[in-house]
Amino acid sequence: MNYNPQAVELNDAIRSVNPHVFNMLSDKGKAIFFPKKGILSQSAEAKGSKINGTIGTALEDNGNPMVLASLGAQLNLTDNDAFNYAPSPGRPDFRKTWNDMMTKKNPSLKGKTFSQPVVTSALTHGLSMAGYLFVNEGDEIISPDLYWENYDLIFSNAYGAALKLFPAFVNNSSFNVDGLKSAIDESKGKKVIVILNFPNNPTGYTITTDEAAAIKNLLVAAANGGKEIVVIIDDAYFGLVYENGILTESIFSYLADAHENILALKLDGPTKEDYVWGFRVGFATFGCAKNSPVLYGALESKLGGAIRGNISNASNLGQTLLNNAYLHAGYDKEKIEKYEMLKRRYSKIKEIFKAHPHYADYFKAVPFNSGYFMCVRINTGNAEAVRKTLLEKYSTGTIAFNDVIRVAFSSVPIDLLEKMFDNIYLAAKECTGK
Ligand SMILES: Cc1ncc(COP(=O)(O)O)c(C=O)c1O
Repeated sequence: MNYNPQAVELNDAIRSVNPHVFNMLSDKGKAIFFPKKGILSQSAEAKGSKINGTIGTALEDNGNPMVLASLGAQLNLTDNDAFNYAPSPGRPDFRKTWNDMMTKKNPSLKGKTFSQPVVTSALTHGLSMAGYLFVNEGDEIISPDLYWENYDLIFSNAYGAALKLFPAFVNNSSFNVDGLKSAIDESKGKKVIVILNFPNNPTGYTITTDEAAAIKNLLVAAANGGKEIVVIIDDAYFGLVYENGILTESIFSYLADAHENILALKLDGPTKEDYVWGFRVGFATFGCAKNSPVLYGALESKLGGAIRGNISNASNLGQTLLNNAYLHAGYDKEKIEKYEMLKRRYSKIKEIFKAHPHYADYFKAVPFNSGYFMCVRINTGNAEAVRKTLLEKYSTGTIAFNDVIRVAFSSVPIDLLEKMFDNIYLAAKECTGK
């Protein structure tokens, strides 16, 4: 394939620092670049000129952005911060703020070098961009078998990947580290793509620190054996961990400098962490043991180019509001209050299960310790039938797939949790006919 010379420049830059990372790129990933020539560079060159006819936004005769008063009146922000385009890789101030916060929330990242976070239109878009950069038609993506359903649309429908699943848990208690190892060992090619998501949707499980170390060790062993591994880390529910001994940092901290053959791609953002589901703002950050500003710059440029060709840029309004909130004195306290509220619901569910051992006649909780969700696995019968019964007879909404029912305790008031699980018990009892 003939690449644009600007893509060749980025590819050469990546190869010169770490050829393994170049090998991980998809065909699209190899071809993409952030245009330094053309409209963007000509506009940049014209910045400050007396008469500037390059800008693709509309300005008043006095140079301010044109803003409809009915919109402007709703916002206490400058017109530029609210209405103008953000750069494709995101606002530099916001990227820096997130970088600082990420290091604070993941203390063992200190001293490790990773890319500047690139702003995506929330995590779904970050996942899709990961597909763009790294997934070719027919590639396998290794994932635990309990995963966010949308991975199918993002990776399989859009990029032609096949999810290669391994059972998430051993004995319904611990993360199946050996299952992950076997899936990697069985993969035929040199390139391996793994996706990890903790706190997990749907299970609400986060690995222990021991499991995190074991995952790192097995990935490093595979990398020593010659595998070139992209690890996509979906940190959508980061920070919502409710037990001790559970990983409170991202596994990115373990993998960002694990091996020159391992590229960790951290996808995170405020959607769930900061309760701004509709803002559509997220981040993508690269980490690899063999790196340099040249490597990270080239990866950021490729991702920036993919974003420019896909959504152009993420909401400036969302980025502005969040950046202001992150720098606000009350932010940390507000976050703790919401965390405590979710943790109380989590603890209540633990109590409910302890107080109702007879639930085990029909279902068991799948391991959970974090996040927005928990699941129950029904002993026999059809989870979809239970879900339907719950809805029709007990006016109780849940999500069913295979033999599992997912409960989003993030959205159920604490006082209704007991009733909810009693309803699940009654419906499961009815559906199995015992
Ligand atoms: C595991 C996981 N990743 C990513 C997302 C998508 O997040 P966003 O709304 O930021 O695109 C979700 C949303 O439900 C999720 O559960």
